[in-house]
Amino acid sequence: MRSFEPSDRMKKIDLPPIAHIMAKVRKMRSEGRRVFSMAQAVPWYAPPEKAIRNLSEKLYDTELHGYGPDPGLSSSRRAVADDLRQRRGIDLDWEGQLHLTCGASQAFLGALLACTEVGDRVMVIEPYYFDHVFAILFSGMELVSVPMETQNDRWAFPKSAIERNLDRVSALVLVNPGNPTGSALSEPELSWLCEATRDSGTFLIIDETYERFNFEGANYAPAKPNGDPHVMVFGSFSKSLGMAGWRLGYLFGPNALMEQALKVQDSVVICPPTPAQHLLEEALREQQWIDGMVQGVLKRLHACREAMDQSPGLDWRAAEGGFFTLAKANTGLYSLDACLDLLERYGIAAIPGSAFGPTGEGHLRVSFGCLSDDELEDAMETLAGVEF
Ligand SMILES: Cc1ncc(COP(=O)(O)O)c(C=O)c1O
Repeated sequence: MRSFEPSDRMKKIDLPPIAHIMAKVRKMRSEGRRVFSMAQAVPWYAPPEKAIRNLSEKLYDTELHGYGPDPGLSSSRRAVADDLRQRRGIDLDWEGQLHLTCGASQAFLGALLACTEVGDRVMVIEPYYFDHVFAILFSGMELVSVPMETQNDRWAFPKSAIERNLDRVSALVLVNPGNPTGSALSEPELSWLCEATRDSGTFLIIDETYERFNFEGANYAPAKPNGDPHVMVFGSFSKSLGMAGWRLGYLFGPNALMEQALKVQDSVVICPPTPAQHLLEEALREQQWIDGMVQGVLKRLHACREAMDQSPGLDWRAAEGGFFTLAKANTGLYSLDACLDLLERYGIAAIPGSAFGPTGEGHLRVSFGCLSDDELEDAMETLAGVEF
């Protein structure tokens, strides 16, 4: 007789301990304890007020509450294409090469399924973003994880290990700037990757969720695909526009792959959320506000680096972009235990490095992009005193 066991493909996935840590944060807060949340990457701000006000006037329009076109509203896709052209010089045919999605999360699934088969090998750079790994595994593919190394105080791009493994994989997934490492690829590194993947017949899928948050000089190179048949790029409005709860992201790539990704979209969510797209159009008009928030994240990065320079317990690792540093924890504890200790004794919530693969063990991902202005000073003072 058949048993009613859940599927092996899902059982082999272990959710990271984020829910456990966040539950502990909520419990501590309910007991009246102060907790600085430097765990999940949720910005401290909501979308620009003007955008919210303008959206609120449209809320009685019936159309705003219905389904929209599968790839997103024409006006919203045009607004995103214009933004990418103005800021990054990317020329996209918004009708065939750009979709709005239910967050970067769903964009990734579309990109992945559009260019791979069940049983294919897919490469990620470790420490990796675990949600990518889950999608690769539950889609029936095999993971090839290429570890980064630390050089001085930074996570270094593992060029030769990538080169050695390229012929074995169908696709390579990259997060730039990185989550959890905060490291960014330079222009020569990105050009090399585009060429090496093209030469080996490997699809290149680039997650640019943190593309607006690039810091510390000119190291970061955003993708600028120029008709490449093998490159798909996706991103998110969760962080740059403070819209995480509205679930909106984007995906762009060659027409042939986008046609296939649209089938994933239709089957999983039908269309991106309509009200969110209206908010997006309003928010994209507020470029100065967006630049202000990016500067706010940079200010937090500097404060966090200064605090870690003083703290005996944590060693800063360079963050060239994004919301995080994957800091070295000066302790013999496993990173999960170190995280629980940090939360219990100092009221600072972080994520254990082991959640991002074995290379992350011994480190803690500390997100500086979440702290409000009111919390920043106290949080940094506390962080500076951390000792395990
Ligand atoms: C690297 C990376 N990709 C994707 C996502 C998911 O973004 P979204 O909220 O747009 O689904 C996140 C969220 O933190 C992320 O860090």
